[in-house]
Amino acid sequence: MSVLDELFEQALSKKSVFRDKKYLSVDYIPDELPHREEEILRLANILVSILRDSRPSNIFEYGPVGTGKTAVTKLVLKKLSEKAEKAGIRFRYAYINCRFFRTNYRALVKVAMELGLRIPRTGLPVDVILSLITRKLEENYRFLLVVFDEIDWLVKYSGDDILYQFTRLNSELNKSEISLIGITNDTRFREYLDARVLSSLSEETVVFQPYNQEQLYDILLQRARLAFREGVIDDEAIRYAAAIAARDGDARRAIDLLRVAGEIADRSGDFKVTVDHVVQASEEVERNIIREIISILPPNQQLLLLAIAGLSKLSRNKITTGKVKHVFDWILSQIGKQPITLRRINDYLAELETLGIISSTIVSFGRHGRTRIIKLEIPVEIIENILTKDPLYSELYSELIRTIISP
Ligand SMILES: Nc1ncnc2c1ncn2[C@@H]1O[C@H](COP(=O)(O)OP(=O)(O)O)[C@@H](O)[C@H]1O
Ligand SMILES: [Mg+2]
Repeated sequence: MSVLDELFEQALSKKSVFRDKKYLSVDYIPDELPHREEEILRLANILVSILRDSRPSNIFEYGPVGTGKTAVTKLVLKKLSEKAEKAGIRFRYAYINCRFFRTNYRALVKVAMELGLRIPRTGLPVDVILSLITRKLEENYRFLLVVFDEIDWLVKYSGDDILYQFTRLNSELNKSEISLIGITNDTRFREYLDARVLSSLSEETVVFQPYNQEQLYDILLQRARLAFREGVIDDEAIRYAAAIAARDGDARRAIDLLRVAGEIADRSGDFKVTVDHVVQASEEVERNIIREIISILPPNQQLLLLAIAGLSKLSRNKITTGKVKHVFDWILSQIGKQPITLRRINDYLAELETLGIISSTIVSFGRHGRTRIIKLEIPVEIIENILTKDPLYSELYSELIRTIISP
């Protein structure tokens, strides 16, 4: 056999640790969601009024990422529409992930399409679409429930017009009624929602708390039994993944860790998934998250981060905002931009701090006043690695280190 044949044969014959990886994918929603019995019942108790022929309250759901908001909502809606259909109740729901439908117009078109309406690609005026939806509802449905998941994306991107329109639509409907569910991870979301919209959206609120370690363990155990072949994953590995994810209480993170650990085991030809694989997985998952966060930062903040990376790489001394401004101004001058005020820089720094990329402390120098000291919270090599993929950044960075920081 040629080397090539051998390699391919080996790959074909080699057993994977997975029985079926789909159970560890983001889209898979199990029929049972351990430790969410209460939230499921809360939602169900509100929405059950559909089966009693009365309009359910609008619902506002919030809680951190990975606490099961989407999974719980989809599960309840799936069961509810099955029951409604059997009972001959004309109920329909439209699920919109606002991360993908960020403008009021696109979200509206999505609702129309979910109702089976065809909207020409060239578009229609909003009021026309709204009246098409109204007519369709009056003719075909008793209840429509519209779910705006990750609703903060929609509102930040294009305001809350559509929410306002939907909350008002009921007064124009005779035979059918609309209810809304808004879901968000963003705790500050309520602040930038119009007060009228907020109050009608939150007729009921359901709060999702982060999972603790034992809860995450149960969730992982359920998935592991489905996804892995029998006996390949160490119980200790599952516990370790639960412990890591418990820092944020995030079930998505926990499940990702398990999947990546299995992939690493497969890649290295191991037949068992161990704590060691989970450790490696956690580094890989961490890097991916950081990469994603940094790659969507606005250019100015990426450049500011480049300045901080350069400083923390080479300066022994503490990084003050003054030094950051000095280096950042230099970067801006290199690309033909005007310097930015210290105040703006402080705003940028505050945002980087919220994202967990840096931390800062105020240090007092007695009568010489106070200054902010910046510290990178992520290994500088990782940041360099991500930012210098861009040739312009890479060139700026080498120049920066050569001429500004090290001499
Ligand atoms: N209680 C649970 N039991 C099983 N899987 C869960 C549970 N809660 C969340 N998950 C899973 O964790 C992932 C993240 O949950 P998700 O509902 O998307 O969180 P959120 O919408 O709050 O960010 C999904 O893959 C989901 O299926
Ligand atoms: Mg979600």
